[in-house]
Amino acid sequence: MAIIATTFGTGLSYAGQLPFKRVTAGEMGQKQQRMVVVRAEGGGGGINPEIRKNEEKVVDSVVVTELSKNITPYCRCWRSGTFPLCDGSHVKHNKANGDNVGPLLLKKQ
Ligand code: FES
Repeated sequence: MAIIATTFGTGLSYAGQLPFKRVTAGEMGQKQQRMVVVRAEGGGGGINPEIRKNEEKVVDSVVVTELSKNITPYCRCWRSGTFPLCDGSHVKHNKANGDNVGPLLLKKQ
């Protein structure tokens, strides 16, 4: 996975997959303004590296009143071995990529 960071207003911008190609904001056709955009690119295959790739779209639904635990973590990093549930794989992903993703917590009331 490549992380693309774009910093406008500082005179430096980065675009493309690793290794980064250094370009100016003007070369990217952007107005000079202060903002940072960081997004994950899935290396040509999207953000999902391997979860249920035989499905056209991965969609899950949960009836919240039927949750078995008081708090149920759902994966948002697409790295869980128990997807759609979080198995803590985001910790390894965050350390390896300097990322900060974490699960969606569904709380039973
Ligand atoms: Fe994906 Fe925890 S394993 S958010």
